[in-house]
Amino acid sequence: MKQQLDAELHAESATTDSFRSDVLEGLNKNPKKLLSKYFYDKTGDQLFQKIMNMPEYYLTQCELDIFKNKTKELADTILSNKEPFDLIELGAGDAKKSSFLLKYFVDKGVDFTYMPIDISGNILSVLQDKLADDLPSLDIIALEGDYFDMLNKATSISKRRKIVLFLGGNIGNMDMEESYHFCHELKRKLNQGDLLLIGFDLKKNPHTILNAYNDAEGITSAFNLNLLSRINRELDADFDVSEFQHYQTYNPISGACKSFLVSRVKQNVHIGTFEFSFEENEVIDMEISQKFSRDDIVRLAENSGFHILDEINDDRKWFVDCIWQVV
Ligand code: AVI
Repeated sequence: MKQQLDAELHAESATTDSFRSDVLEGLNKNPKKLLSKYFYDKTGDQLFQKIMNMPEYYLTQCELDIFKNKTKELADTILSNKEPFDLIELGAGDAKKSSFLLKYFVDKGVDFTYMPIDISGNILSVLQDKLADDLPSLDIIALEGDYFDMLNKATSISKRRKIVLFLGGNIGNMDMEESYHFCHELKRKLNQGDLLLIGFDLKKNPHTILNAYNDAEGITSAFNLNLLSRINRELDADFDVSEFQHYQTYNPISGACKSFLVSRVKQNVHIGTFEFSFEENEVIDMEISQKFSRDDIVRLAENSGFHILDEINDDRKWFVDCIWQVV
């Protein structure tokens, strides 16, 4: 018991340590930068759920359309190889979209194991309970932790071919260089013939994109500002959140949709014993949500060692789920 407690405390302090050091490092940069992966504490998770239900935030509905209405097309490409497989989902969350594919496979009696990977043990246990009710015959191994560590674990647990799901347009929260490194690293962990099913938000009318990230109700603004509140709560800081303002941009040429927080006044902020000064109108670079052209996607696949097997769009052609194969 004591050993387990020590291990948990150690893990918790390691997580807090990297949060603290990433925040301090980012605020020392010029321009200042915070990492959007830290948006997702309990409040951030709730705000993101609200974002996904906003009429302006089309991404979730688009990908749901693909998984709900084009399940057979997705499944046919995966099942063109008859060998049993492990279906690994990176950042599975509540598996809202992938559960359509899971049900399709279960109904067809396909031999596969579902391996959801998530950083949140809580989300994984909720998911396991839900799937036990909805699909009692599903074979499931939940893996809690970092994507690449858990991918290593998945490959050590079983030698079956792997199908990796990376949905939601999460690849867009990396810049082009980072997304190349991410896909290349994924490819290195997989074997020839393994598949990656990956979702991309496509370039489209710039107003549609900007509206999705600049909602009138201010939910996206609250989502960004919550990171300052989280730093206050967890890192002994004194951001006056009301003195920062959300600012969203979309560049239709590069496809970069970016959020910033603007300091309304000249001010100093303390994090523990460190002090950071902000000029009036100085910005913090918060998040990128990259949008892709088809050429961008082809280049990313080829440069990171994949061959494109299939591409499935939603009806409006605003989003695409691609099936790539390791060459
Ligand atoms: C999680 N990720 C794909 C979302 C996106 O669209 O970039 C996060 C988000 N940020 C603001 N709204 C939604």
